[in-house]
Amino acid sequence: MTQLDAAADLIADRLVPFPKPHFLAAGDLNPPFVLSLLDLADSFVDLNRQSTKQLDLLRGRTVMNLFFENSTRTSSSFEIAAKRLGADVVTMPVQASSVKKGETLIDTAVTLNAMKPDILVVRHGASGAAALLSQKVGCAVVNAGDGRHEHPTQALLDLLSLRRAFGDVGGLTVAICGDIAHSRVARSNVALLSMMGARVRLIGPPTLVPGDADRWGCEVFHDMREGLAGCDVVMMLRLQLERMDGALVPSTREYFRFWGLDREKLAWANAGARVMHPGPMNRGVEIDSDVADDLTVSLIQDQVEMGVAARMAVLASLSARLEGAA
Ligand code: NCD
Repeated sequence: MTQLDAAADLIADRLVPFPKPHFLAAGDLNPPFVLSLLDLADSFVDLNRQSTKQLDLLRGRTVMNLFFENSTRTSSSFEIAAKRLGADVVTMPVQASSVKKGETLIDTAVTLNAMKPDILVVRHGASGAAALLSQKVGCAVVNAGDGRHEHPTQALLDLLSLRRAFGDVGGLTVAICGDIAHSRVARSNVALLSMMGARVRLIGPPTLVPGDADRWGCEVFHDMREGLAGCDVVMMLRLQLERMDGALVPSTREYFRFWGLDREKLAWANAGARVMHPGPMNRGVEIDSDVADDLTVSLIQDQVEMGVAARMAVLASLSARLEGAA
């Protein structure tokens, strides 16, 4: 038996159909399914590290990537994931500036649906766009980020990175820091990490933490030193200047002084604490290069690698559900 055949057998054993017809939010998952999805993703990590890494699990299926917002890592990660599974992949970058949001989204969806894709991966600047689209098409929809609402595959890849680094996520204390108000990554991570038994804290200036954040089931801190004390993981978020209507921070230099993660602030967390960032990073704004590039603390490169494996697990599992429905 070749290495590839052995990997394919293990993957077939671990494959569980997705519990919902679409993957729109972290809440579409449940704890036992998350564990099986992570096990499946672990097998894909092993496969991706082999020299021959293409399977035919999605042969004959068409995956369409529809990105109304700019993206480098998420769109390429989905594209690579679908190709590694043997699917036909079409990636369409749509210029957000040239579309009249709601109307064009539905028109585009109906047009693409007529081409009979099996899975549509969507990123859009409007919260709720992926859910709206899922009601208009006959295929499975994966939310690759909708406005400031959710980015569930990011939370899944973060969870995969954490489980591989710590062994177990239950009992970890995770601080999500910075621009929480504009972050779909924060919302999906709060939901998924809490579901899997981690304690989540939100740390940021009052202008960047939503007023209702205490109802997310997290502790909220407006001081880095207080918030980081006792944390095992420090997840930094990008300052999303493009989503801010007015000036919510005095200046990026001032922001770094109070909220930017450097060695000094990291030392306030637990010894051995690990650092995460979904990317793209604003170096010197929310994170210092010295910390971001130190592979003994930073999981940022792991997150990118885990992104492909986690998305392969999602696509394979959605496809298994489609198979069951056929
Ligand atoms: C995030 C996103 O687009 O929501 N990035 C990503 O998916 N890699 C976070 C961000 O843009 O800051």
